[in-house]
Amino acid sequence: MSQTANFQRSTWSSRWAFILVTIGSAVGLGNIWKFPYMAGSQGGSAFVLVYLVCVLLIGLPLLMAEIMIGRRGRGNPVSAMLKVAEEGGRCSGWGLVGWVGIVGALLILSFYSVVAGWIVDYLFKALSGLRLENAEAAANRFKALLADPLQMMLCHTLFLALTVGVVARGVIAGIEVANRIMMPGLFLILALLTVWGGIAGDMPAAWDFMFAFKPEAITPAVILAAVGHAFFSLSLGMGAIMAYGSYLDRQSSIAGTSLWVALAGTLVGVLAGLAIFSLTFAYGLEPAAGPGLILQALPLAFSHMPGGQWFGVFFFLLVLFAAWTSAISLLEPFVAWLTERMRLRRPVAAWGTGLAVWWLGIGVCLSFNRWSGHTLFGLNLFELLDFMTSRIMMPLSGLAIAIFVGWIMTRAQVLDEMQLSGLPFKAWYLVLRYLAPLGILLVFAHALGWLAWLGWLA
Ligand code: PHE
Repeated sequence: MSQTANFQRSTWSSRWAFILVTIGSAVGLGNIWKFPYMAGSQGGSAFVLVYLVCVLLIGLPLLMAEIMIGRRGRGNPVSAMLKVAEEGGRCSGWGLVGWVGIVGALLILSFYSVVAGWIVDYLFKALSGLRLENAEAAANRFKALLADPLQMMLCHTLFLALTVGVVARGVIAGIEVANRIMMPGLFLILALLTVWGGIAGDMPAAWDFMFAFKPEAITPAVILAAVGHAFFSLSLGMGAIMAYGSYLDRQSSIAGTSLWVALAGTLVGVLAGLAIFSLTFAYGLEPAAGPGLILQALPLAFSHMPGGQWFGVFFFLLVLFAAWTSAISLLEPFVAWLTERMRLRRPVAAWGTGLAVWWLGIGVCLSFNRWSGHTLFGLNLFELLDFMTSRIMMPLSGLAIAIFVGWIMTRAQVLDEMQLSGLPFKAWYLVLRYLAPLGILLVFAHALGWLAWLGWLA
């Protein structure tokens, strides 16, 4: 590619392509792996209700804000923040927020890839006819994987190579094409799974568990967990949405597009939850099983159903697609920076970054076994990376983005880019100026234990 071609940024081939890739980023391990066990352990419907409200009140407005900054800045998260700040006559230090996102995304990718590697391992096992007799066997199978660093490294390597391979091919030929193939596959498998959950599972119990109105179960802890999860599941604050937004054409409406993404993303999460819980209940399993829920409960359920092997294969394929399209969006922001700022060729940038992330991931694989004794503040490497990103960097960056759009960008800039007016604009702007910063500050304070320290949530 010539030097001048580097300056010409790609644009998604249509508004729908953008919606598809952004849903691809949002729907991932967060929706399918984390959402069920969080809901399972945080009061079921109470968590789901608060989560849905958070997505609408804080998630959606921030999603719009991130897409807007990306499109206005027409660059990777660092240069987009910088350009928009300078255009409005503000301090260029705001570029730093882009860095928090980029670095956070790479840190997430290092352990995301390891967890996705577990899915790869289970997919292979499902293909070779994994059968689990009882809950104990399911737990032992999962423990055996965690105790085997080599197997984890192998699967992590495979998953990361798949991710890098797509990003290296470019925005359209790689990212868009991969999403165009995988996302319809994901929707199809999910629909099949949900129908099967309705036939073979206990759908009324799942529905009740997720949607029965139980206001008394809404506690401050549930609210805070739900806000945090709304963030993670919409890929907010990590530069991913900003990077994708930078390839969006000027004609598409940001508000309408974001609405689709938030709706579809949430729907996928809810459907996955219904399918997973209806099977969980039908087979007498415990919904509050924790992070191992889908890796223990589901293979066990599959072992006891007719044609369960293929069901398992489909299910893990679904999770793999979801994780893959999200991982791609975690890698893109830094690769975009390397190609735009350092003028590196895309394949070099992608594979080079992949190598660095891979190394960190190797450490994560070891943190479950050989290095499990090496801890900092009582957290092993996996827990430390998760804590640093979801509890500190994500809320911090989300807070900064809300403040940036609400208070730093000029109103003229915002109006020009959003092309929104009347009540919708007023409501959105108000949320970014007051509600979002306040909400995020509360999550942040809770995560760091400040509220407990003050005696609020003791
Ligand atoms: N939203 C993704 C998921 O739910 C994770 C993600 C977070 C992706 C931040 C990109 C940026 O799995």
